[in-house]
Amino acid sequence: MAHVLVVGASNGIGLETVKAALAAGHRVRAFARSAARIELTDPKLERFTGDARKAVDVAAALDGVDAVVQALGVPIRDLFGPVRLFSSATNVLVPAMEKAGVTRILAVTGFGTGDSADAIGVLQRVPFRLVFGRAYDDKSAQEMRIRKSSLSWTFVRPGVLTGGAGTGSYQVLEDPSSWRNGTIPRADVADFIVGNLQGDAYVRKAVVLIR
Ligand SMILES: NC(=O)c1ccc[n+]([C@@H]2O[C@H](COP(=O)([O-])OP(=O)(O)OC[C@H]3O[C@@H](n4cnc5c(N)ncnc54)[C@H](OP(=O)(O)O)[C@@H]3O)[C@@H](O)[C@H]2O)c1
Repeated sequence: MAHVLVVGASNGIGLETVKAALAAGHRVRAFARSAARIELTDPKLERFTGDARKAVDVAAALDGVDAVVQALGVPIRDLFGPVRLFSSATNVLVPAMEKAGVTRILAVTGFGTGDSADAIGVLQRVPFRLVFGRAYDDKSAQEMRIRKSSLSWTFVRPGVLTGGAGTGSYQVLEDPSSWRNGTIPRADVADFIVGNLQGDAYVRKAVVLIR
């Protein structure tokens, strides 16, 4: 069993990851500015209130953990201004992990980040850039920073996220020639993350996840 830090744990994929990790028997430190509002009851859960852009919060949160899941997100209304959360938080997290000797990180970015931008369909490219361009440029900077590190990383690049129950039946697209968009429940993304907290199946790899 691992002791895992989930950064961005109060909502979305992060919260689904907290639930799945607890169900799998792991200890979880759930990090978010609104961590106190996480409505789960489990003796293996620790709520940790902090800001991912603040080095002092992140260093404290890394104490004693074996793996980190970075599942940060910005509200839709913030997509139309400059987005710096992903790169800023990563510029804090990576050196803090290296200093603390924590090596495993699974970073949630998205289909369209980094070299998967080339796989976006021709018709989707312009609208995708208009709405998500600033966020995905910042996610690409996030991935670049992690790639340059000594960490054992996996980039988790889901397609369009949906709610509801996980299906346990989804595709993990590893070969760039197979990358394409699709939908996937957040709970299935969490299932992939928790299944790969340990082991080296996808270390130093980027995968696209769709149903
Ligand atoms: N929507 C899609 O179809 C889609 C597709 C592919 C990829 N993605 C990506 O998947 C990721 C997860 O999205 P989601 O919708 O599941 O999650 P989300 O609802 O956006 O949750 C974001 C989490 O990040 C935390 N957070 C934000 N700023 C923070 C800060 N400064 N310090 C600490 N925590 C912070 C939030 O908690 P607090 O606010 O309490 O701090 C929250 O727990 C995002 O990066 C998104 O871009 C989305």
